[in-house]
Amino acid sequence: MPKRVILVTGTPCVGKTTAAYMLTSKLDALYVNLTDLALREDLVLGKDEERGSIIVDENRMRQKIREMIRNCNKNNIIVDGHYAASVVPKELTTHVFVLRRDPVELWKFMEKCGFSGRKLWENLASEILDVCLSDALSVYEKREVCELDVSGKSVGETVDEILNVLNGSEKCRVGVVDWLGKLESEGVLEEFLRI
Ligand SMILES: Nc1ncnc2c1ncn2[C@@H]1O[C@H](COP(=O)(O)OP(=O)(O)OP(=O)(O)O)[C@@H](O)[C@H]1O
Ligand SMILES: [Mg+2]
Repeated sequence: MPKRVILVTGTPCVGKTTAAYMLTSKLDALYVNLTDLALREDLVLGKDEERGSIIVDENRMRQKIREMIRNCNKNNIIVDGHYAASVVPKELTTHVFVLRRDPVELWKFMEKCGFSGRKLWENLASEILDVCLSDALSVYEKREVCELDVSGKSVGETVDEILNVLNGSEKCRVGVVDWLGKLESEGVLEEFLRI
């Protein structure tokens, strides 16, 4: 069986790691968390002091991931990170999942993650403006990307949906959410889009 390389991307705090962990155990997969990998393998170019995040050496990371996929003895590799679409070699990728969450719910998740102030507003804006989806679509064809609205879903429900797509019983699609339109129609867009 050819190896499946499954990307799980989405805005910070959307629930990638929680879902990817469960998926990893169900598929007996190799799990790769990009933030952990960057720190462990010293793939860091510097620090974005303003945002409190690391700047990753994407070329070296791509090379490292290529090696990991080649040397892996598992059939499934799950790559978890909001920039997965930019650093996993395209020719090795078999599935791209972009998790989406209603900004109203995501705001609460972000607070739980400890986000506040500018960091919270920037990341919330990324979700509202489809940044991770656009990043995925700048690398992959529309038909190769699977956008999943995980709002209100348990981790198990999210993972079941991913498994259904992987085993072919459910089809993938992009264009499943319109947060901008939703918030605008509810008259709360300005409250959410503060940058
Ligand atoms: N389906 C869910 N229902 C309720 N809470 C959830 C669900 N999925 C994740 N959470 C919670 O939301 C928070 C963020 O989840 P998680 O760490 O998986 O997000 P992430 O996308 O990996 O974030 P990051 O990009 O910062 O790594 C955690 O506190 C987690 O416990
Ligand atoms: Mg995570």
